[in-house]
Amino acid sequence: MTFIFAHRGSAGTHPENTMESFIAAEKSGAEGLELDVHLSKDGEIVVIHDETVDRTTNGKGFVHQLTVAELKELNASYKFKTFQSFIRSPKIPTLKEVFEWMRGNNLLCNIEMKNGKIMYPLLEEKVIQLIRDYRYEERIIISSFNHYSLVRCYQLAPELETAPLYSDGLYMPWIYAKAIHSKGLHPNFKAAPNMIIQEAMANGIAVRPYTVNKESDMERLIAIQCSAIITDYPEKAFKIRKKL
Ligand code: G3P
Ligand code: CA
Repeated sequence: MTFIFAHRGSAGTHPENTMESFIAAEKSGAEGLELDVHLSKDGEIVVIHDETVDRTTNGKGFVHQLTVAELKELNASYKFKTFQSFIRSPKIPTLKEVFEWMRGNNLLCNIEMKNGKIMYPLLEEKVIQLIRDYRYEERIIISSFNHYSLVRCYQLAPELETAPLYSDGLYMPWIYAKAIHSKGLHPNFKAAPNMIIQEAMANGIAVRPYTVNKESDMERLIAIQCSAIITDYPEKAFKIRKKL
């Protein structure tokens, strides 16, 4: 069965990377969440997509130049106009808050390390420590466009699953995945033809393409029993999977 991972939560219908979006994802029937992490000025792991708060909140500035207390003052649904009218100012969550909430469900969680444009010292160490504190080793997949970061995670915690993100075609990507000790591949769905997905899976590598929002793309990937899809619309994906 193709698992459904809710991209930044149910980001198509709720403000991305907020608890509201994650709760909606759980209600949709998704098996997993995808979320993005950065470090705040005071070294907390915070869940937000961009390096700055400008696009998704009513604030301005770099995440790493703001403390958690300052980040918590911001309205994380400010730019999500349709939703903003009926909820009260969702906050930027910390990863610890998300993990605490995950105690009450069985969701998997794909953590994307956003340590590309800004290099966060000790991000890998901190994320791994938190995973171990909660004993979530079996529930977490770590992904990143920064493949060095994934190798660092493997060195620190070989028991964890890592998966490189990529957007261009890789030649025999399952060989690449194995070379960097990854058990998964997270390609842009446009760089993931059926043959490559099937060959990777036959070689023991899980494939979870992103960000699959169109019905026809969902149908294609679910029909070939791709390991998972990462989508802004988990509810829609769930209905399609049920139908097929
Ligand atoms: O995990 C897949 C996807 O989230 C990668 O791109 O920019 O949405 O973080 P982005
Ligand atoms: Ca992401």
